[in-house]
Amino acid sequence: MNLTLKIWRQQNSNDKGKMVDYQISDVSGDMSFLEMLDVLNEDLITKDDTPVSFDHDCREGICGMCSLQINGEPHGPDKGVTTCQLHMRSFKDGDTIYIEPFRAKAFPIIKDLVVDRSAFDRIQQSGAYVSVNTSGNTQDANNIPVPKEDADMAFDAATCIGCGACVAACKNSSAMLFVSAKVSQFALLPQGKVEGKKRVQDMVAQMDAEGFGNCSNTGACEAECPKGISLENIARMNRELISAKLAVKH
Ligand code: SF4
Ligand code: FES
Repeated sequence: MNLTLKIWRQQNSNDKGKMVDYQISDVSGDMSFLEMLDVLNEDLITKDDTPVSFDHDCREGICGMCSLQINGEPHGPDKGVTTCQLHMRSFKDGDTIYIEPFRAKAFPIIKDLVVDRSAFDRIQQSGAYVSVNTSGNTQDANNIPVPKEDADMAFDAATCIGCGACVAACKNSSAMLFVSAKVSQFALLPQGKVEGKKRVQDMVAQMDAEGFGNCSNTGACEAECPKGISLENIARMNRELISAKLAVKH
């Protein structure tokens, strides 16, 4: 395939940035999207040009580092995959592909396609942990029975990889899907209930302090999430938050 790439180039956080056109040829459908960018970068380096900066780590859909807005969609056109799992066979010869960073006020651009998602880390640090000692005195798992349905929902919530696609997809740049997944994975299990009321309040307060927008129930986050995190988690987080605030008042 021969493709035209329109890529966001920005030298640093103060630079205005702009779209730059690149031509790339002999792209195989079996290449991943990131491998295609690797080929482009090798070509740029050969020409003494500056390679395009982009985030990646595991390249197998588990770390949440890759974060490209491809033709206006976080992680590109395929559903349920991250950018690193997207293959070039999803495009066709002669296509023009727009490649931009995830855009949100709370995710400032560091360089080119790399954004600073440390806001997510700070939200996690504000409450996404348990104080229960889980080492050295491990009890038999059957000591605290957990309904299968709750265990399944907690596991589903825990599959969030913190990629930020939900924020990039939302017209309000809301982080509710991410935060609600993190709150839910604890709220659904006995170990998470110990500091549950404090957790939800602290994580929501940190989310607001980081400058993420509000949820207006559009559902774009769920549609673009590569891990299929359900909007039900947002409803659960709202219930947790209301009951935590009521408990504090009485
Ligand atoms: S909820 Fe989905 S889109 Fe949002 S950070 Fe988690 S995995 Fe990524
Ligand atoms: S590079 Fe790890 S999820 Fe894509």
